[in-house]
Amino acid sequence: MGTNSIDWDKLGFDYIKTDLRYLSYWRAGVWQEGTLTEDNVLHISEGSTALHYGQQCFEGLKAYRCKDGSINLFRPDQNALRMQRSCARLLMPAPEVDAFVEACTKVVAANERFIPPYGSGGALYLRPFVIGVGDNIGVRTAPEFIFSIFCIPVGAYFKGGLKPHNFVISSYDRAAPNGTGAAKVGGNYAASLMPGSLAKKHDFADCIYLDPQTHSKIEEVGSANFFAITHDDEFVTPKSPSVLPGITRLSLIELAKTRLGLTVTEGDVFIDKLDQFKEAGACGTAAVISPIGGIEYQEKMHVFYSLEDVGPITQRLYKELTGVQSGDVEAPEGWIVKV
Ligand code: PLP
Ligand code: COI
Repeated sequence: MGTNSIDWDKLGFDYIKTDLRYLSYWRAGVWQEGTLTEDNVLHISEGSTALHYGQQCFEGLKAYRCKDGSINLFRPDQNALRMQRSCARLLMPAPEVDAFVEACTKVVAANERFIPPYGSGGALYLRPFVIGVGDNIGVRTAPEFIFSIFCIPVGAYFKGGLKPHNFVISSYDRAAPNGTGAAKVGGNYAASLMPGSLAKKHDFADCIYLDPQTHSKIEEVGSANFFAITHDDEFVTPKSPSVLPGITRLSLIELAKTRLGLTVTEGDVFIDKLDQFKEAGACGTAAVISPIGGIEYQEKMHVFYSLEDVGPITQRLYKELTGVQSGDVEAPEGWIVKV
């Protein structure tokens, strides 16, 4: 595919076939040497555990074009570590951190022409995944695995980028209290499709899930973490064993403390105590920071800062985070891998 037809400023979050993807097989107990391939179709056994028993996990991270033309990969070691935890939860072998990061840099370098230009607001989204494959039928771990990474140029995940979006509290759960919520596994996302689609049908950007045990505390969005700012300028984000530990969330916790001088609390966000917050947002690799205008719960809309405007602390967090990612703001030690 040529890149001339891509309107970099108008990219959304849609599949585009890029030039090369990384593919490696785990056979006879070891990861084999990976290759870059043009073929974007996988040929796998009909008995693959990934197809029947959801034995698969994935990651999401981005590469950014900097002002000086260089390329920044944001915290790939954190994605490698999270993939190791997801794999362990589903009894799958995981790539080593160095092998994961090296494979990411190879994929970015091989698809350099697809990296959106500096200032366009876009980035190259990398999608690493591990799937259980090979002939099998019993409920057991697969005899073989594939580790692959493809990439896609992307823009805003929630339409319009940095503008407030409205969300609705779902009555469904995406994960169980001691289930797989903290692992980035496909089953959590399959469970979120129907509630997410109901929310979108009613013009919400997505739904927000409450804790599956008591349904009294905000957990996260189907595709991003939740944070809010109190009237005393405290950054608050839910802490729960069934929430995905986001790398954007982790980064915002540190930037809020060290760069904005905010107090940070990881704890309970009770759905009936939203009045304590003046701003709220959804944060994630795809979502970046999406300000939350309002949340509908039991047919009542709770408005945070405004349904149209972005609160000042959310704006400062956005500027700091995206500045670090695209190289305009000095990054904390170890956050950027140059490709
Ligand atoms: N929560 C869910 C359910 C997600 O899918 C994501 C996106 O990856 C996040 C949170 C945010 O995680 P990260 O910041 O690592 O992208
Ligand atoms: C990400 O932000 O990387 C995600 O995985 C969110 C969504 C696209 C599933």
